[in-house]
Amino acid sequence: MRILFLDQTAELGGAELSLFSEVTHLPHPSSVLLFEDGAFREMLQNAGVDVAVAQASSGALTVRRESGLVAILFAVPAVIRLVLDVARRAKGYDIIYANSQKAFVVGVFAAALSRRKLVWRLRDVLSAAHFSATLRRITVLLANWKAARVIANSVATGEAFALVGGNAAKISVAYPGIDEAPFTSVSEAAIAAVRREIGAGDAKLVGVFGRLSLWKGQAVFVDAIARQPGVIGVIVGGPLFGHEAFEAELREKVTALGLTERIRFLGFRKDIPTLMAAMDIIVHSSTAPEPFGRVVVEAMLAGKPMVASAAGGVLEILEHGKTGWLYEPGNPEALAGALRLVLDDITGAAAIADAGQAHARDTFTVAATVRQIEAALAQS
Ligand code: UDP
Ligand code: GLC
Repeated sequence: MRILFLDQTAELGGAELSLFSEVTHLPHPSSVLLFEDGAFREMLQNAGVDVAVAQASSGALTVRRESGLVAILFAVPAVIRLVLDVARRAKGYDIIYANSQKAFVVGVFAAALSRRKLVWRLRDVLSAAHFSATLRRITVLLANWKAARVIANSVATGEAFALVGGNAAKISVAYPGIDEAPFTSVSEAAIAAVRREIGAGDAKLVGVFGRLSLWKGQAVFVDAIARQPGVIGVIVGGPLFGHEAFEAELREKVTALGLTERIRFLGFRKDIPTLMAAMDIIVHSSTAPEPFGRVVVEAMLAGKPMVASAAGGVLEILEHGKTGWLYEPGNPEALAGALRLVLDDITGAAAIADAGQAHARDTFTVAATVRQIEAALAQS
């Protein structure tokens, strides 16, 4: 079974990091085709993966999640060129595996032209918080018509697909697995170096990890840190996918609240396991349902208290009071309350974090992901 993996972006979001692990562990001859060039192409190439960049005009990428019909129609000529390119390349494969929503739309027509099977690795919650009604309607129609299988990254993601009219019989679930090794082998010296870099002193460090974007909720994090004197808030992540304006707003907010001494911005980093090991608490702050949430599993693997926003795939990862803490999405007061629970009983919190670590190690392995995807592909 030869697989052509398609992804619209070459930036390093969670969907791409997960695809990397899937491409490098699934036992099939495969190639990756990206719609733009960048860091993800380099990462794949360095790992010896066969990767190419489609000769698409960038016009195909101008459709945004909030786009209406007019914007979509304007992008059509560029999309047609892209589809023809993908269809030509797909001839050498049995399955097209679309890793993102735009890749899926292009993949539908390329699969029809090349008479290849198409699976959709669904990593987005198809809700109003993430997609315009037009985009939701179009993608679900296309999925019902052409997707041989929809492999959701959580039950929540699969349910959201069915809720907007997606054919439930096509859904399989495969959780993104994460290699525990880098998270359990961080040296004390590396941790000390990070604490020095941050200028932590004796303060407790509370970190939030993820790309900077309105719905990832870093503003809620900042408001919660404002309510919790004595701790330093560490924001790790870059403004991927064109969210530079949000970063500027967030920095202004930190300044306006007089928090520049207590909030640090570290930007996009590649040393996530080390940074997580240096934290005392790790927060997940998404205000809309998180489709899965790699950062939640990573914090658990790092053995840290994980305080997560209670919605979406996160509810399948972590149980409040047993393997971590949950709070109402978007509510800084509730987040500050959860942080206090942890800070007031650090010993009790460590026991919960240990249980979280054991659960994440057992459940969210790359081997399990491969098994689940293989089972789904066998049904396609
Ligand atoms: N990440 C990273 N560097 C950063 C911030 C985040 O490598 O500076 C990684 C993080 O470790 C995680 C991924 O980006 O593996 C984010 O995935 P998640 O599923 O949490 O969110 P997504 O970006 O896919 O919505
Ligand atoms: C997407 C989602 C994220 C998920 C990741 C991996 O980027 O936003 O929640 O963890 O894909 O499937």
